[in-house]
Amino acid sequence: MCKVIAVANHKGGVAKTTSTVNIGIGLARMGQKVLLVDSDAQASLTSSLGFRDPDSLKYSIATVFDRAIHGKEYDPEEGILHHEEGIDLVPSSIDLSVCEADIFKAYRCEYILKGYLSSLKKKYDWILIDCPPSLSKLTVNDLVAADSVIIPAQTGYLSTKGLGQIIDTIRAIIRCRVNFRLKVEGILLTMVDSRTNYCKEIIQKINEEYGDQAPIFNSSIPMSVKVAEASKLGMSVYRRDPKGKATMAYEALVQEIMVNNRIGGEA
Ligand SMILES: Nc1ncnc2c1ncn2[C@@H]1O[C@H](COP(=O)(O)OP(=O)(O)OP(=O)(O)O)[C@@H](O)[C@H]1O
Ligand SMILES: [Mg+2]
Repeated sequence: MCKVIAVANHKGGVAKTTSTVNIGIGLARMGQKVLLVDSDAQASLTSSLGFRDPDSLKYSIATVFDRAIHGKEYDPEEGILHHEEGIDLVPSSIDLSVCEADIFKAYRCEYILKGYLSSLKKKYDWILIDCPPSLSKLTVNDLVAADSVIIPAQTGYLSTKGLGQIIDTIRAIIRCRVNFRLKVEGILLTMVDSRTNYCKEIIQKINEEYGDQAPIFNSSIPMSVKVAEASKLGMSVYRRDPKGKATMAYEALVQEIMVNNRIGGEA
């Protein structure tokens, strides 16, 4: 059965896109069929997978929203790209920002992405959605389409207030019953400098405040220049730096996600 995970935090620059790429390709390396969805008009996921000029693509996630807004038919597989590291991608483009402004014109506008993905689920084991850094109607679409959410959080700049807002949004979506099954897969600490006392203090604070609503992954992602280099080159950290510390960390995280979802037999 396909699992849909939104990678979300309205805070910018916390490694949502980087984590979507490296979790997605990590799962593909474990033999899983994976689709990544770029749900951000910045199209960082699309460009960090090597599609350097997303705004020139004929089809993108914007096409899906545009056709839903205008009540037109579309082929769900139209425009899906393939990356050589074994994952598929629904790209994005700047046109998505135009659709965002008009989205309320669509019938059941919170359900557009869910409807689109339902027709693709049979082809994949996992669908990961890279969310924009906002709590907009697009993010609501992502959270309505998802079974669970990974919340990347940067320890250096982490404000527990920020985490509270995304957790409150998730709870509102559950409460309003637009997606009452939505779960938090885990909070993922990213760009961790080292296991300093400061970092441990933050982990303890998050556990105290949100532990009952949102587990923290055991794996955290260290700061590494190789991570940024990999996305500039349109590849994963596994390819850029096979034995690097961030690579090991993403591998451990993928294992953790698979075990939590009872895949891989180590649970
Ligand atoms: N582990 C890491 N070590 C060093 N740099 C990293 C690491 N993870 C991500 N980065 C860098 O941090 C920056 C922000 O990462 P990314 O684009 O993934 O964040 P984001 O949350 O998707 O941002 P946005 O909110 O704009 O969508 C990028 O330049 C990326 O290369
Ligand atoms: Mg991003």
